[in-house]
Amino acid sequence: MTIDITPAPINAKTYQQICQLIFAHSRIHLGPARQGLLTSRLGSRLHHLGLASWDDYGKLLRDRDHGDEIETMLDLIATNHTQFFREPSHFQRLAEELLDPLLLDCPDARRDLRCWSAATASGEEAYSLAMVLSEFAIRHGGIPEWSIEASDLSRKALQRARAAIYNRDALHLPDPDWLARYFQRGTGPYEGQCKVKAAIKDKIRLRRVNLFQENYPFSRLFHLIFCRNVLIYFDLDSQGQLIERLHSMLAPGGLLVIGHSDSLVHLRHDFISLAGGIYRRSSS
Ligand SMILES: C[S@@+](CC[C@H](N)C(=O)[O-])C[C@H]1O[C@@H](n2cnc3c(N)ncnc32)[C@H](O)[C@@H]1O
Repeated sequence: MTIDITPAPINAKTYQQICQLIFAHSRIHLGPARQGLLTSRLGSRLHHLGLASWDDYGKLLRDRDHGDEIETMLDLIATNHTQFFREPSHFQRLAEELLDPLLLDCPDARRDLRCWSAATASGEEAYSLAMVLSEFAIRHGGIPEWSIEASDLSRKALQRARAAIYNRDALHLPDPDWLARYFQRGTGPYEGQCKVKAAIKDKIRLRRVNLFQENYPFSRLFHLIFCRNVLIYFDLDSQGQLIERLHSMLAPGGLLVIGHSDSLVHLRHDFISLAGGIYRRSSS
């Protein structure tokens, strides 16, 4: 005997209500065309909760005593796709062209280059950046000292970032020597997996930050912010607000890097474009 566990199709009103909740808690904007995405990502959650309909799920989300169901829903809805050295030109340009002038523009960055990977997902972006900074410092007599704040909305993605264990085939290292330098290779049941070494991991602070929360938990400005492939999930208004906030989180002369799928074209902003999704806050 087979039991049909597929809930009835979601109706327009419930879809809209769930989208409003998602927007209110993350600013992720799902237009009318994303119904399929929502039902495919949340369908198994209904089943897990033993709910027969989308209306029941909508009610559960609106219930004050929903516990952390909203957070669980956001974990399921957020697209956490990422990879090591994604959009490699950013890392290459940083190492070859941008870090030297950044250290000249921001003299305090030589002692303490502060970076933020602002939608880090499962950590690959932050660990890629860490390797690039470490290599740069090795070549420049230990300068700069650096640290990275890495944050995301998704608890599930952050858990993977904290574990820092990745498939060997997913590392895409620009230099094969980096494997032994930055990773411990798994053996036995962990064969084929690699763990980021503590020397790198300890320089990265991972925490949950919603890019739209009222106050960010950082007391100092950053010299470099990676905020890549996340603007596309927000509506234009929210993108504008976020870019303004990121501008204010950068030290004068600091750099913002956005993803190839993101764009500032329709936004008013005060950045100087350095091309290829890299922007600079003016020095004054
Ligand atoms: C496609 S991933 C991008 C990962 C990485 N930056 C990259 O380019 O490979 C987008 C990430 O943005 C996160 N995100 C979505 N809305 C967010 C918000 N309001 N605050 C913080 N992170 C958010 C998602 O959880 C997801 O991990």
